[in-house]
Amino acid sequence: MAEIKQPSATNQPTTNGAHPPGSEPGVAAERSPDAPLTHRPRYAHIVGWGYHVPGKVITNHDLEQIVDTNDEWIRSRTGIAERHVAADPKETSVSLAVAAARKALEVADVPASKIDLIICSTTTPEHIFPATACLIQDALGANNAGAFDLSAACSGFVYGLAMARGHILAGDAEYVLVIGAETLSRIVDWTDRETCILFGDGAGAVLVAASEVPGGIMSVDLGSDGSGGNNLILPAGGSAMPTSLETVSSGMHYVKMDGKAVFRFATRVMASSTRKVLERAGYTTDEVDLVVPHQANIRIIQNSVLNQLKIPAEKVFVNLEKYGNTSTASIPIALCEAIEAGKLKPGYKVVFVGFGAGLTWAACAIDWRTPVEKPETGWWKNTRRQATYSAAAARSMWRRAVRWVYEVLPDPEAPGRDEGREKTPAEAPVKENTPERVRE
Ligand code: ACO
Repeated sequence: MAEIKQPSATNQPTTNGAHPPGSEPGVAAERSPDAPLTHRPRYAHIVGWGYHVPGKVITNHDLEQIVDTNDEWIRSRTGIAERHVAADPKETSVSLAVAAARKALEVADVPASKIDLIICSTTTPEHIFPATACLIQDALGANNAGAFDLSAACSGFVYGLAMARGHILAGDAEYVLVIGAETLSRIVDWTDRETCILFGDGAGAVLVAASEVPGGIMSVDLGSDGSGGNNLILPAGGSAMPTSLETVSSGMHYVKMDGKAVFRFATRVMASSTRKVLERAGYTTDEVDLVVPHQANIRIIQNSVLNQLKIPAEKVFVNLEKYGNTSTASIPIALCEAIEAGKLKPGYKVVFVGFGAGLTWAACAIDWRTPVEKPETGWWKNTRRQATYSAAAARSMWRRAVRWVYEVLPDPEAPGRDEGREKTPAEAPVKENTPERVRE
């Protein structure tokens, strides 16, 4: 794993709720390495990042052929010019997530076997169950990881970071993989011009690691207001409205949205949540070096981060023109592109802020310490990496084969199998708790 840089004396994080009890910034290196884990300060740093989007691009002009819209309307109302969609049926939330996760592990130079927990935030899971995160765990060969899905719509990635930080600060995990993955094109009504122009597909992943170097994710703010649940909803397919011929024919398995209500809510919470995390981390808005907001609509970003918080546009990373709203994947994809564009350096104070269905919102403030140079990729590393992917696939096939063998083997409990054999005492039928037996 790349070495996380110690903060300089003049650039140390301030102390407040962000630090584990008893720890002070800058003292980690002086503590005895033999001290019990719980007595050592722990910080949660992002040490790897990656994203993946499908190859197929749909431009605003392409949409003009499908619905009654035009490029000028979409650009001026949203800022979006094009979006990537999973046109190949083999491209799913899992396949996009696995590609993004592999890149994040590559950047961190950490093998999948070291991951303790995989959190996949998604509104388009592979299935209602099993969790998409479990399928990702299998594909990565992360055989020591717990895995679960997180449902907080577009705020989900930051919710996932908050969970990762909590597990790391509690000493329960060393490495947590947080993924935002979406194939929204599969749940969008391509005849509804009010929604289909907004969304795109993609996945982004980060690896969060425990470290004694002060910094990393310093503060988080998570919020929800379920009274606005109907403002952005996929009505059918759950227990309230199970899938039926009627739900399908009436299009209730597509996204329904009250755009204006979501817009008003978003501009309010983006600013207030950012203020909260800055206050908790002890930063002022002037000190912020980079904001990576949820990429839903350029006007929402302008009305909240730029106008209300007065953070200048050059400090706010925006790439929604190319991808549209990829929901929970938008912040990690934008993070990766901000790094590629040289907008993020060690020592920077960074804010992620998002909002989404639920209604939910979430923000976090980060004291970024990880070097952002591209990792070396020699032939040996590439070969070793390919070998681990093949090993993960072989391991998965082997486990499936073992399960299949157990299925086809004769069942020892099957009636007639042990006909005529005398039962051992352990196999003797247990007497039922009849009233007579209880009196005995
Ligand atoms: N093309 C052309 N005209 C359109 C289109 C379109 N694609 N869509 C709507 N219009 C029309 C409307 O019918 C309306 O016409 P009318 O005045 O004749 O009735 C007119 O344009 C204005 O429509 P508005 O709804 O007022 O447009 P608005 O400026 O509010 O923009 C938008 C709509 C872009 C949806 C905006 O409200 C928005 O971005 N809301 C937030 C949505 C969002 O971010 N959702 C994702 C949340 S994250 C998650 O969890 C997935």
